[in-house]
Amino acid sequence: MRAMSRLDQIADLEKRFLLPTYNRYPVGFERGKGVFLYDFEGKKYLDFVAGLGVNALGHAHPRIVKTIREQAARVIHISNLYYNEYQGLLAERLCQLSGLDRVFFSNSGTEAMEGAIKLARLAGHKAGGGDAKSQMVALEGSYHGRTFGAMSLTGQEKYRRGFEPLLENVTFVAQNNVEALRGAVNANTCAIVLEPIFGEGGILECSEDFLRACRTLADQHQAALIFDEIQCGLGRTGKIFAFQSFGVVPDIVAIAKPIAAGVPLGAFLSKEHFASAISPGQHGTTFGGGPLACRVGLEYLAIVEEEHLLENVVKVGGYLHQQIQELVAKYAATREARGRGLIQGLVLDIPARPLVEQGLAEGVLFNATQDTVLRFLPPFLLEEKHVDKGIKVLKKLLGKKRQPRRGDRA
Ligand SMILES: Cc1ncc(COP(=O)(O)O)c(C=O)c1O
Repeated sequence: MRAMSRLDQIADLEKRFLLPTYNRYPVGFERGKGVFLYDFEGKKYLDFVAGLGVNALGHAHPRIVKTIREQAARVIHISNLYYNEYQGLLAERLCQLSGLDRVFFSNSGTEAMEGAIKLARLAGHKAGGGDAKSQMVALEGSYHGRTFGAMSLTGQEKYRRGFEPLLENVTFVAQNNVEALRGAVNANTCAIVLEPIFGEGGILECSEDFLRACRTLADQHQAALIFDEIQCGLGRTGKIFAFQSFGVVPDIVAIAKPIAAGVPLGAFLSKEHFASAISPGQHGTTFGGGPLACRVGLEYLAIVEEEHLLENVVKVGGYLHQQIQELVAKYAATREARGRGLIQGLVLDIPARPLVEQGLAEGVLFNATQDTVLRFLPPFLLEEKHVDKGIKVLKKLLGKKRQPRRGDRA
């Protein structure tokens, strides 16, 4: 009998002992460096997934490694009963960058959303709406996470089915449908919740008109406008906050993924008007805002600035978009190029997962979402030569070219 490979052994163990929540690809990674990951056999892969948008600084960034080492040797965790050196500093920096006023740190994106909607509920009560001012408006096709609150705001049946009853009083409207939005928001609305760019939902952007209508209606009805920038925020659009690309400022914004370069950390930021609705004891966390995670968060923001990574996101993101558009022009199985910066999608006419699997054999990691969308969330360190490599592989995998239409130049 053939000896089991290291991957087979790991997969076998997981199969026996893990809750069966994931359908993993047949590959595992041992280490990474920059935009590359290495599997157990030492094979190298170009990473367009970046741990689902977490590894914006790539893998094993020397400054992050140094910061984690130093801080781990000093103190990792002390709880929120006491002060640590870094939580206030990171909150101050995030407020400077966003123009918002106060921050709460969580451990994940879902928890950031959960805290954000709890705050909106409290503010609804404070505004005099009592229990009635508890309704929320969210978008069809959205994704906000897996807890009951976040799941209740997620406008996709596949994430909700089997878990009902969820939070009541959530009304879903279609993205960019201003009429439907006007019909849904009223005096009992405590929050309008949206991702400026759907991530998991297939890289679909809210229009500026729609976002402005959200802002106006939230103001009219004293509701919180909550942006979920967990996937599109912290530099992915080429601005630190995605809302800065769209020109509409939310009352509350949730962030997570890259903020502590892979150390779990999330946060929501709020304007004072809403933040003042909460008092000690009404929300909390054991791990959130610990000294290690917050110090790494400060280092993340410093690296993005000092290494001019936003400029790189715009430049290389522009090049990636142009290359994806060329694929759409030439290959029969493709339909549309979506997104901006380093949050982009290629919509296919065929299932995306087989392409992702074939990409593994070619040494490139892509991600599939919504069955037919290839999603690109690469590290901000990506260079044009990496884009060329990814596109070359995609050309090979996409196979058949479109029939030239009559009148097209050869
Ligand atoms: C837009 C958005 N919101 C919320 C979440 C949930 O974040 P987490 O998985 O860190 O809990 C995600 C994760 O993919 C996301 O993309």
